[in-house]
Amino acid sequence: MKAVVLTAPGGPENLVLQDIAIPDIKEDEILVKVKAISINPVEAFIRSNETFLRMILQLDKNDDKPYILGWDISGVVEQTGKGVTRFRKGDEVFGMVKFIGHGKAYAEYVASPESHLALKPKNISHKAAAAATLAALTAWQALVHHARIKAGEKVLIHSAAGGVGHYAVQIAKHFGAYVIGTSNASKKDFILSLGADEHIDYSTQRFEELVKDADIVIDSIRDVGHIERSLKAVKWAGRLISLSAFPDERIYRDALMSRKFLYRMEVASDQEDMEAIASLLEKGQLRSHVSKTFRFDELPKAHRHIETGHTQGKIVVKMD
Ligand SMILES: NC(=O)c1ccc[n+]([C@@H]2O[C@H](COP(=O)([O-])OP(=O)(O)OC[C@H]3O[C@@H](n4cnc5c(N)ncnc54)[C@H](OP(=O)(O)O)[C@@H]3O)[C@@H](O)[C@H]2O)c1
Repeated sequence: MKAVVLTAPGGPENLVLQDIAIPDIKEDEILVKVKAISINPVEAFIRSNETFLRMILQLDKNDDKPYILGWDISGVVEQTGKGVTRFRKGDEVFGMVKFIGHGKAYAEYVASPESHLALKPKNISHKAAAAATLAALTAWQALVHHARIKAGEKVLIHSAAGGVGHYAVQIAKHFGAYVIGTSNASKKDFILSLGADEHIDYSTQRFEELVKDADIVIDSIRDVGHIERSLKAVKWAGRLISLSAFPDERIYRDALMSRKFLYRMEVASDQEDMEAIASLLEKGQLRSHVSKTFRFDELPKAHRHIETGHTQGKIVVKMD
């Protein structure tokens, strides 16, 4: 099969198309013939960071080379392990495979634990399904599990036009929240079209001067100083979820002293959450906005695009 292999930590040019063997599956695994893959900033980060790359390989102790990046797939079940009960050959499935281990999603065939997949809604494309995996799971887990969102709450979502943000806006609206999204002015209309009630242009406005009573803030900016600013936008007993920056002890202490809850979260593969997302997608209550589609042999180009930090919605790689 064809796979895009990372030959060494470094630039996108180290992502090289190669012929390798189709993976074997374990008893609880499924072999998926991949139709579409989605790309996330974390893949570009790990591609260029040797320490993180080693850490991920160590998490999966039996694993060997070559290193293949990626976690987000949508495709068709080709083969099932003996212990698999939920899926059959021919089913269309999607999910985030083995995050944050060695997912090996940049390939024509992927071996996935049964528990990391859900049935793809029949009324959406593989492209839209592949998009709604890591990013949609992050938005869902941040709002539902960590922030425990309730109807009527005020939610401030940073990077509201990006992969995670555009799902977070829609999920928060689904739960009946009042939603404020931040981005550059050029993406204001997009954010409002997702259902957001207000928009803040981060390049000309200081959000913490405009919002001081948010019940929930989702902060995906990789900057500890930004977390400090976000804390000012949270009201007493409100929740701040940090997705990218690692707050230091002092910021945790400040949050505690001002009776605000601060969490640093990591998304996790979870079948129940994937099924909740599948149900929203099926009913049209959640939509993937795919702003760019690349061919499989254009994966280095997709990495260059995600590294700009200005992606609108999601970018996807289509296999045929
Ligand atoms: N902890 C976790 O489990 C987890 C999971 C998923 C993602 N993440 C992290 O969360 C971050 C976002 O992920 P993503 O997939 O949504 O990335 P993405 O799709 O690349 O996000 C791009 C968006 O970020 C916006 N943006 C950039 N700087 C901004 C700022 N200062 N204020 C507001 N918006 C800004 C851009 O809007 P403009 O073009 O208008 O600037 C763009 O639309 C990444 O760092 C990622 O690694 C963490």
